[in-house]
Amino acid sequence: MSDMRAALFDRYGPPEVLYVGSVPVPAITPEQVLVRVHAASVNGGELAGRAGKLRLVTGRSFPQTCGVDFAGEVVEVGASVTGVREGDRVWGVQRLKTGSMAEYVAISPEKIGPAPQNLTLLEAISLLAGGTTSVTALRDHAAIKPGERLLIRGASGGVGSVAVQIGKLFGAHVVALAGAKNLDFVRGLGADEALDYRTTPLSRLGTFDVIVDTAGTQQSRFRSLLAPGGRMVAVTIDINRPLAGLATILASTLHGSRRIRFFSGNPDTALLTELTRYAENGDIVPVVDTVHPLDSIADAHRALEAGGVRGKHVIQIT
Ligand SMILES: NC(=O)c1ccc[n+]([C@@H]2O[C@H](COP(=O)([O-])OP(=O)(O)OC[C@H]3O[C@@H](n4cnc5c(N)ncnc54)[C@H](OP(=O)(O)O)[C@@H]3O)[C@@H](O)[C@H]2O)c1
Repeated sequence: MSDMRAALFDRYGPPEVLYVGSVPVPAITPEQVLVRVHAASVNGGELAGRAGKLRLVTGRSFPQTCGVDFAGEVVEVGASVTGVREGDRVWGVQRLKTGSMAEYVAISPEKIGPAPQNLTLLEAISLLAGGTTSVTALRDHAAIKPGERLLIRGASGGVGSVAVQIGKLFGAHVVALAGAKNLDFVRGLGADEALDYRTTPLSRLGTFDVIVDTAGTQQSRFRSLLAPGGRMVAVTIDINRPLAGLATILASTLHGSRRIRFFSGNPDTALLTELTRYAENGDIVPVVDTVHPLDSIADAHRALEAGGVRGKHVIQIT
């Protein structure tokens, strides 16, 4: 194999900087597998990455690529790999710097799992980032219990739309904060209450045992809504004020168990397999907003940037 198509950009900027170019197909090591990528999705944080707001992390060398999640088929297996075979239908997560919006990814078998058999790969990919992030937030960081009151900020987005479903699966009473046009959408995903984040005063929200924040703004104010013993998990900081955002999270550690817990997801085969089980059981359903061909990657970024997303903008690659 020689070259493949991939989403690239040569400078930070608006969606227009994105193009589909040609790069070498990655060569696998004996410990890796090669996956032909059928689907990937646009994650909220990638917009900031492309715009250059994360350049402390993303650096100055170009071209850069995008995408972290992928779903596809194993086409080559390294000599030392066991338990994975050519033809396996898998999903997984690639490092952002390497990117998943390409025809092939070389990946360690610990970073993939079997894709849900009951879903197309275009449907499945809508659940991956949001699902693994939500399980990590709700189970590992919040230790959520049935009957607890859960607030989800950004409930209609890629993470939030799956967090609503996982919250219900774990038995919580889910209060969803979303834009006015998406309140029915998040109710349809199972939210017990859906409120417009632009018009609902914090004072009307009540208190919560668990808060999952995918928006990143006003984190101190939301932390004050925790009931005694409450836990707040943030999956992002205020991207427009990153240093202030980090300071807010650090300062919150002074509050012990009521600190803002922050993590960066790194799903492994066990977590991906658990998510597949939820999907195959029908506990969670896909949240595809729109499927875009790879050639329309800039349109997909523009659409997510415009706001009002319902779940995920999915990219069809092969
Ligand atoms: N830590 C991790 O492991 C991890 C994993 C995945 C994602 N993330 C991060 O999580 C963030 C969200 O990702 P995503 O893919 O879900 O993004 P997304 O699909 O763009 O969704 C963001 C959602 O937030 C809503 N929103 C915006 N401002 C809000 C506010 N003030 N109150 C309530 N909702 C608000 C938006 O609604 P409207 O469009 O209607 O305004 C949108 O539905 C990103 O920063 C991403 O980098 C972190």
